[in-house]
Amino acid sequence: MKGLTYLVLGASGAVGRACVRTLTDRTDAQVVAAGRDLPYLARVLQADAGTDGARQPDSVRLDLDDQESVESVLAGADVVVNCAGPSYRYSARTAQAALRCGAHYVDAGGDQSVIDATAAAAAAHGRIAVFGAGVQPGLAGVAVRAVAARLADPATTRIDAHCGGVQPLSRAGLDEYLHAVRSRTGHPGKIYQQGALRTLPPDKGKGEGKNNGTGVPAAFPGTAHAHVSLDEECRAAAEELGLAALRWWNITGSAEIERALAKALGQQRSCAETLRAIDAAVSGARQYFRISLHGTSDGATVHTVLHCADSYALTGAVAALAALEDPRGRTGAVWMSQYVEARRFWDRMATDIPGASLVLDTADATHGADVPTSYEEFEEGEL
Ligand SMILES: NC(=O)c1ccc[n+]([C@@H]2O[C@H](COP(=O)([O-])OP(=O)(O)OC[C@H]3O[C@@H](n4cnc5c(N)ncnc54)[C@H](OP(=O)(O)O)[C@@H]3O)[C@@H](O)[C@H]2O)c1
Repeated sequence: MKGLTYLVLGASGAVGRACVRTLTDRTDAQVVAAGRDLPYLARVLQADAGTDGARQPDSVRLDLDDQESVESVLAGADVVVNCAGPSYRYSARTAQAALRCGAHYVDAGGDQSVIDATAAAAAAHGRIAVFGAGVQPGLAGVAVRAVAARLADPATTRIDAHCGGVQPLSRAGLDEYLHAVRSRTGHPGKIYQQGALRTLPPDKGKGEGKNNGTGVPAAFPGTAHAHVSLDEECRAAAEELGLAALRWWNITGSAEIERALAKALGQQRSCAETLRAIDAAVSGARQYFRISLHGTSDGATVHTVLHCADSYALTGAVAALAALEDPRGRTGAVWMSQYVEARRFWDRMATDIPGASLVLDTADATHGADVPTSYEEFEEGEL
């Protein structure tokens, strides 16, 4: 929004740089990029500006571990967009600091415990704090809500979702993954059904390839490994909407990546070695990322598939779009998927994200005449 100042933390990271790029492309408002290492940040911003004369943001030095200087940098921002991570280390206290400075707050990361810890401060300062402004959490919850909104009756709506691909892992992304598994955030092996969580037997909760017992849609290649797992955000969406069922499958597109993560969890490999192993696996493969949902209710069906090459760039763009929503009159701490209007936001992925493609088809007569009857239409290579 014109006249506001957007301050992006972690602007040199995989997510932060895409967030800065989207903000400078989409608004004339002042954008300030914050990083720990200003010369490095300047090189990143210069590289992203390219040669097409894109607007350069201002920049400022900020180390979130230097607690005394944090508020002096945050003061003056109208909206703080936190893309510094890992989020379990920085989100809660950075949100509190931003709210104390009178800013609205948007974070690419965050979990339910951070939301709960921030709610009182957001209400007291009359500001909104938005967490999970990314892909998962983020578009995951948005997609569930968007599909449910296209079907008439949540009480009979059953959704199957598959999400993932072949992607490198950022340093903060790996830290976050290891922390989430070790602290048992979310509900691995579980699905949501009729108001309760149900554990699937291990042989039903994972699988490989397309069209096997797990129903991995053909939008994913045969090398895809699927694990059923419900995260906190999607559980909240299923409960709030009163869905009949939600099964969420996380997809890892390569066995090498699965092995590298298992070794990191077993502490057989350091983080640096793990990142190198994943980079090696990814560089020899075709990179892709997809979110695919299939919803049914009373005989009506909705399919939707979002495809992109880089989920970090997508996360940064989504964080920027969330930050550009009008925060006036909004208070409290929420998931991004509770903050934006889900159906409209999901549809924007077709038009507002460079390099992404969205396929939406539905048996609902008000949406789209072309209704592919199977996921075969989205075979790898066609998107
Ligand atoms: N919702 C989603 O789908 C999703 C997806 C991906 C990531 N994320 C979240 O987004 C955040 C960033 O992830 P990423 O993939 O961009 O990671 P990344 O590439 O490793 O970048 C991390 C960023 O944080 C900065 N940082 C680290 N410690 C800092 C400190 N003490 N003070 C200031 N800045 C600091 C880094 O700055 P330096 O360059 O100085 O190291 C870097 O800019 C994480 O919290 C991650 O969980 C969310």
